[in-house]
Amino acid sequence: MAAEKPLVSVTCTAPTNIAVIKYWGKRDEKLILPINSSLSVTLHQNQLKTTTTAAISRDFKEDRIWLNGKEEDVGHHRLQSCLREIRRLARKRRSGSDGDLVPLSYKVHIASVNDFPTAAGLASSAAGYACLVYTLAQLYGVESELSEVARQGSGSACRSMFGGFVQWHMGERPDGKDSIAQQVAPESHWPELRVLVLVVSAERKPVSSTSGMQTSVETSSLLKFRAESVVPGRMAEMARCIKERDFEAFGQLTMKDSNQFHATCLDTFPPICYLNDTSRQIISLVHCFNAYYGKTKVAYTFDAGPNAVIFTLEETVDEFVAVIKQVFPPEMNGDKFLKGLPVEPVELSEEVKSALPMEPFPGGIRYIITTQVGPGPQVLEEPQRQLLGPDGLPKPVS
Ligand code: DP6
Repeated sequence: MAAEKPLVSVTCTAPTNIAVIKYWGKRDEKLILPINSSLSVTLHQNQLKTTTTAAISRDFKEDRIWLNGKEEDVGHHRLQSCLREIRRLARKRRSGSDGDLVPLSYKVHIASVNDFPTAAGLASSAAGYACLVYTLAQLYGVESELSEVARQGSGSACRSMFGGFVQWHMGERPDGKDSIAQQVAPESHWPELRVLVLVVSAERKPVSSTSGMQTSVETSSLLKFRAESVVPGRMAEMARCIKERDFEAFGQLTMKDSNQFHATCLDTFPPICYLNDTSRQIISLVHCFNAYYGKTKVAYTFDAGPNAVIFTLEETVDEFVAVIKQVFPPEMNGDKFLKGLPVEPVELSEEVKSALPMEPFPGGIRYIITTQVGPGPQVLEEPQRQLLGPDGLPKPVS
């Protein structure tokens, strides 16, 4: 019997991202073409990432996928769009000559895990699809047009194909060829910038981004106004704030854009409310803290859920975390309260304490992940980090 050809596999990681100019609304549901451009910050993979292994073998009978250890339907249309597009690009690139490259007719097995808590409410689909597309591209030797493919998995995923600060041009063409992501500045550009993810205790599952934005496009005139008349100017201004590392203007615009996005959700009919009481308390707290100092030292942004993402500079992290602990005293719920980059405890002055607006609200925030701006997707070389075993099935979780 001829020796079995071993499987060929690649393992990669990809980051999540948080938008400072929000994407909300599609002009084409199938190709995932947005009604406005958006801009985001890529978060560091040391704290939040997706890892994916993709393998092909002559012995595989069908394409299969496992997410966080559980087998999922490989026929999902967004997953199929990504697989089909990568295989198409691979075919185009090879144009007839297969050489040493992996045969396109072989079936693929894919395993993917998120190392961040689902409760963090962070766009896990962004990191997930970015990682899927990047890993398949490595496997099949495809290099270009990757953000265009990732976009077809989830809109925000196209921005996770790059590190640092990334814009997604809405584009104009009906085929989406110009609806792509591009780096505005690399991760090394603003080393003092810090990001705190405040995971609040959510009461219920919010409306998904995909269905929420569809209802907004159908019913909100504010969203139409935002997309046509507000976002173009904000994109240019945000790129300037980043280039000049102007935290004051960056923070203010980030907060205004988050607020306008949530205003369009409320203008949707029936209305969508992603923020909860804790989110609103965080908003007041940020404004009080900034008012106390007479400048923008911290800024919030919220996606389609109640968790806050705070931007600040390194010099402010310790004090602001102490402020959070003062207003939201941690409850022993089995979670470590501070995760990620180290934070030093500080004693707040009586003056700062008396400037804080509210009574303590124990347990309102479950935990904080402190992170920073990070790089784009990466290939992992270490064999022990592969998620599929030599039999092409997920390795047992250790
Ligand atoms: C509020 O990218 O999750 O996070 O394209 O339907 O997959 P689909 O939606 P998704 O929407 C993200 C919306 C947002 C804002 C943003 O990330 O820009």
